Amino acid sequence: MLVGPSGAGKSTWAAAHFRAAEVVSSDALRAVVGSGEHDLDASGDAFSLLDQVVAARLGRRLTVVVDTLGLDHARRADYLERGRSNGMPCVAVLFETPGAVCRERNSGRDRPVPSRVLGQQLAAMDSARSALASEGWDEVVTVTVEDQERDRAGAGTR
Ligand code: CTP
Ligand code: MG
Repeated sequence: MLVGPSGAGKSTWAAAHFRAAEVVSSDALRAVVGSGEHDLDASGDAFSLLDQVVAARLGRRLTVVVDTLGLDHARRADYLERGRSNGMPCVAVLFETPGAVCRERNSGRDRPVPSRVLGQQLAAMDSARSALASEGWDEVVTVTVEDQERDRAGAGTR
C-alpha cells in the first residue's frame, strides 16, 4: 500500500521495484475507463476495478502494489483486511518527500494538481503518518528523497 501526496514519487518508485503487472494504479485505471488519468468523474469506476484487481490477486496470493494516494484511513483499513484474510504480508510504504519537492515536481507536470488540493494532501499525510503506526501493518517502510535518488542513479548504470 503506497502512501503519499501527489508528486511524492510513488508511481516512479513502484515501477523501479515491481513488475508492471504487480502494480495497480487508480490513475491508470481512470485512463482505462475514463478519458484519461485525470478524469475524476471516472474515479468511482476506476476504484471499483482497482478493488476487483486487488481482491483477485490477493485471492491467488500474488503480490499487489496499490498505487493510489493511500491517504484515506478507511481505504487502507479495507485493503489491509483483505490482505490479512488471504494470509498475505501487508506493508505500507510511506513516501516522506518534503512538501516543497512535491510542489516543485507537481508544477513541472502536464496537468498539475491545484496548489490547494496538494496542500490538503500534505495535511492528510501528517495524519496518515501518525495513524499508520497503529493500523496493524506488518511493516511500515519509509522512502526518502535520498532513496529515490539512489534508484535513479542505479537505473542509470543498469
Ligand atoms: N520524479 C522525479 N524524481 C524522482 C521521482 C519522481 O523527478 N525520483 C518526478 C517524476 O518524473 C514525475 C513527478 O516527479 O514527473 C511525480 O512522480 P510520480 O512517481 O508520478 O509521483 P506520484 O507520487 O505517483 O504522483 P501521483 O500521486 O500524482 O500519481
Ligand atoms: Mg502516481
